[in-house]
Amino acid sequence: MVTRMNIAASTNIPLEQWTDNERLRAWIQAMVDKCRPDAIHLCDGSEEEYDSLCELMVKKGTLTRLNDSKRPNSYLCRSNPADVARVEDRTFICSQNKEDAGPTNNWCDPQEMRQKLSDLFEGCMQGRTMYVVPFSMGPLGSPIAHIGIEITDSPYVVASMRIMTRMGADVLKVLGKGDFVPAMHSVGAPLAVGEKDSPWPCNAENKYIVHFPESREIWSYGSGYGGNSLLGKKCFALRIASVMARDEGWLAEHMLILGITNPQGVRKYIAAAFPSACGKTNLAMLQPTLPGWKVECVGDDIAWMKFGKDGRLRAINPEYGFFGVAPGTSYSSNPNAMRSIERNSMFTNVALTDDGDVWWEEMSEEPPKHAVDWKGKDWTAESGEKAAHPNARFTAPASQCPVIDPSWEDPEGVPISAIIFGGRRATNVPLVCEALSWNHGVFMGASVSSQTTAAAAGAVGKLRHDPFAMLPFCGYHMGDYFGHWVNVGQQHDASKLPRIYNVNWFKKDDKGAFLWPGFGENSRVLKWIFERTNGAQNAVESPLGYLPAPGELDTTGLDISPEQLKQLFNVDREAWLNETQGTRQYFEIFGDRLPKALRDELEALEARLRG
Ligand code: GTP
Ligand code: SPV
Ligand code: MN
Repeated sequence: MVTRMNIAASTNIPLEQWTDNERLRAWIQAMVDKCRPDAIHLCDGSEEEYDSLCELMVKKGTLTRLNDSKRPNSYLCRSNPADVARVEDRTFICSQNKEDAGPTNNWCDPQEMRQKLSDLFEGCMQGRTMYVVPFSMGPLGSPIAHIGIEITDSPYVVASMRIMTRMGADVLKVLGKGDFVPAMHSVGAPLAVGEKDSPWPCNAENKYIVHFPESREIWSYGSGYGGNSLLGKKCFALRIASVMARDEGWLAEHMLILGITNPQGVRKYIAAAFPSACGKTNLAMLQPTLPGWKVECVGDDIAWMKFGKDGRLRAINPEYGFFGVAPGTSYSSNPNAMRSIERNSMFTNVALTDDGDVWWEEMSEEPPKHAVDWKGKDWTAESGEKAAHPNARFTAPASQCPVIDPSWEDPEGVPISAIIFGGRRATNVPLVCEALSWNHGVFMGASVSSQTTAAAAGAVGKLRHDPFAMLPFCGYHMGDYFGHWVNVGQQHDASKLPRIYNVNWFKKDDKGAFLWPGFGENSRVLKWIFERTNGAQNAVESPLGYLPAPGELDTTGLDISPEQLKQLFNVDREAWLNETQGTRQYFEIFGDRLPKALRDELEALEARLRG
């Protein structure tokens, strides 16, 4: 027997008053009946709501309020140590046909998965409050934006969604009776009557991050962390949106967006895809070391790009905040991130200093003498342990970034002049290289490999193919995704398409040291790209593509030896023929869904290398 919960008696405000969207009401009622929460909170997105949720979490021990004189209105959160990163092996694309999920995704039969989810979600919110969170990915009402509704039993998710997305009652006004992506989330830890809650409830052994691409639904169970639970981000803005983009002729990508202005005041926009924890946030808001140049941030993780009436590719950042990697972030490496998180921020799995502030590895040259580590234990610099988890994160409003771009909320998006691909590569891949054509650029994106990082559970430092930095985020067959990119190039005016580049900040010398200083110095590479898109003849052709001509990468004032520079741009033909063999093998997994254009590009590259 299904017991229908009387929603009217259990909500903070009447459901009918909150929304007149019939489909939304029916979905909420169905989820209430299934999950059987103790109470229902329909979110309005107000500051009062945020504050009271944070207060509740402080009482429960989930959050610690930081010292207000150090970091106003900010909190530390310690997750369960078994819930610290995305779980790629627990992430599923449940398309009707297995083929459509492709060889790079975990697939499960949708009927089977629906049954599984139905069992898992049955009564899963007992003893908890169900929160209903309306959110817009992208500026409210932008023609590029889309609306989702997340249902969750985690107040941490609600508070984080308020920072990361445009969230609350205004979204419902824009939604009206229209369509939304339903995103269902539970930490998967129902409470028996009288049972004491833990500060970070989760179901560590039983996580499911599930997508139904055809019906555009998301179901997430068992994890409260990051990309597993803030469902607007990877689940919607990448996995579901990539499917929408394929169907509708646009692009949903794991890319930062930056504006770059030269000393003459000309501004251009660049989008760049690097795998998780490979430098997007850092590049997105870098402080150029080159005098007169300015970089401003539109977004640091995701780009939605559509062709505008003028035929140019236009990008919006669908997010509203940054969920950035904390370790390594400092006033010297990324001052603009540090200023973005000076207040109104949430810190997950970092260390707590004795004066009530946060700390993580490399945040300061001198570590604190004593701190409480991310697990809540006493820590000293001598202990040899990490004070912060390597995937510790800050959550901060994008509007607080001192170099936020003036057009970052432009509903039409910003025009993209260049697209960059890259990864974490100790060998082979040069500092920067320009594609010979659109299809060659698509090939560059498709053949990216990168060392794995702590952003996902599992081994760190393992080289793997991560095409377009989308390996964990493409909601359909990766071969078709490559084909979509090829089509985009075919269907649009080549003179208006962005030029495509590959970069690598992580090449090492034979002693294992980085050859390139990175961070603010990456502005030198951006300058070269900027000038290329301006028509500058400052390149030489190599088998890999165009490299900066000798002397054309601006190294003024940089302490770098000619030998280092040589290594950064060295093209080792033998090593590259090995590399292309690896790519050839990798491409095999896509079978006949690999576009012919990419096979041709591979062969052309091999011929150039042999030539
Ligand atoms: P996600 O949020 O996981 O998608 O990561 P991301 O791509 O935004 O990476 P992020 O900018 O946070 O950088 C991840 C790590 O790489 C940090 O520890 C940085 O300090 C380091 N890093 C970023 N840029 C550079 C660089 O130019 N050179 C070097 N050596 N390290 C860098
Ligand atoms: C990534 O892993 O690419 C992230 C962090 O941006 S998460 O939101 O956890 O996916
Ligand atoms: Mn990311």
